[in-house]
Amino acid sequence: MKNLGIRTLALPALVCCLSLSMTGQTPGTGATATAEAPTTGASATPDHVTLTWTGDPATTMTVTWRTDATVEAGFVEYEKGATLSGKALRAPGTAHDFTSDLGTARVFSATLTGLTPGKRYAYRVGGGDRWSETSSFETARKKVDRFKFLLFGDSQAPITGDAPFGLWRRTALRAIGENPDARFMVINGDLTDWGLMQAHWNAWFAASRGIIDRLPLMPVSGNHEHYGSRKVSRQDYYLEQFTLPANGPEGLRGQAYAYDYGPVHFVVLDSQQVEQRQQGDILTAQKEWLERDLAASKAPWKIAFFHRPPYGTKLNRDETEIREAFCPILERHGVDLVFNAHDHGIARTPPMKSGVAMKKPSEGTIYLVVGQSGGKTYKDNVRKEFHSFFYNPLDQTNYWVLEVSKKKLAVRVLKLDGTTIDSFEIDSKGNFKQKEQLQEKKAA
Ligand SMILES: [Fe+2]
Ligand SMILES: [Fe+2]
Repeated sequence: MKNLGIRTLALPALVCCLSLSMTGQTPGTGATATAEAPTTGASATPDHVTLTWTGDPATTMTVTWRTDATVEAGFVEYEKGATLSGKALRAPGTAHDFTSDLGTARVFSATLTGLTPGKRYAYRVGGGDRWSETSSFETARKKVDRFKFLLFGDSQAPITGDAPFGLWRRTALRAIGENPDARFMVINGDLTDWGLMQAHWNAWFAASRGIIDRLPLMPVSGNHEHYGSRKVSRQDYYLEQFTLPANGPEGLRGQAYAYDYGPVHFVVLDSQQVEQRQQGDILTAQKEWLERDLAASKAPWKIAFFHRPPYGTKLNRDETEIREAFCPILERHGVDLVFNAHDHGIARTPPMKSGVAMKKPSEGTIYLVVGQSGGKTYKDNVRKEFHSFFYNPLDQTNYWVLEVSKKKLAVRVLKLDGTTIDSFEIDSKGNFKQKEQLQEKKAA
């Protein structure tokens, strides 16, 4: 059963590949690739500028960007304030060549260190007379008592049409516009439809411009990061293009990692064992790492992200292997919330412990499925026996807003038009409080 998803993908993958090569288009890149000479879409002018953290959010920022392979050196110019003057500091980027199905590009990244906490910095990337637009970011305060972050489900979409990933862009811009105080964002896997086809990433990065170069993105790897025109393989394009904390298990760096922001310890896991059978067992190393990582954290709140849901919404789909691997460890170490994706439904369990629903959040872990920020939906999402809330977001994309303080964790998921789908709080005493909730419409 588990391999069915991959087998059924083989045909659309081929069709997709054929249609691309026949039209000679590189959708969403602004570049035209000819059948004779496909291009990466990169040029000597930087693009794909992305903010992540690989260090302390108060004093560091990691910037990643792309050029073509002619560019020898790249820098980040940065300066406190909203604009760059002639006094900007300069940090050199380290480069690696990234070869995709469209050829070889160069990916640069630099981690700015020694930044002042709680300050806005202007920055641009490039060198010589080739620079990105000036953008800006804000460092975390030294002591964060409360903060807000944004969470999105699968942004995957076809890359046909005039505005590939347009729904993702609209959803992200709406979420940021409504929450200008959000400090960073998470996408819970399946960023693109075909993660081993660079045209998809070019379209995704083009749609994410002005978003991920202003707000750090801490992404999660999903199964679609493994799919290409001819193969299911390691999520190399994802790993090559995002610079992520290198504190995960040996051999799985970037696929699993952890970071802290204020009173929260965040862990990110890779649930794509099905796609990585050929690489062997990716779960045992993560389990050992997760056990150690969670045991070492004294953070008041713990939140985990991974793509495949242990308590999912899709009919006839059950991620037993992932549930058995990760849930006992997450629950033993008091992880408060686990966010999953993949099923494109929205759901929440009661606090769970060893498969049993508990009364209070302090007694178990709440598992949530986060819906989608792109156009893909599933009609066969259903409420299952373990769900205390379920909604199938067939009509609109959605986004999550999480407000955290030491005493309270407030969670809200909204439709693109601002309608609240579910909203609740848990507090440090272990209580659960339901806020607004949209009632599921019965099928006609
Ligand atoms: Fe998905
Ligand atoms: Fe998925």
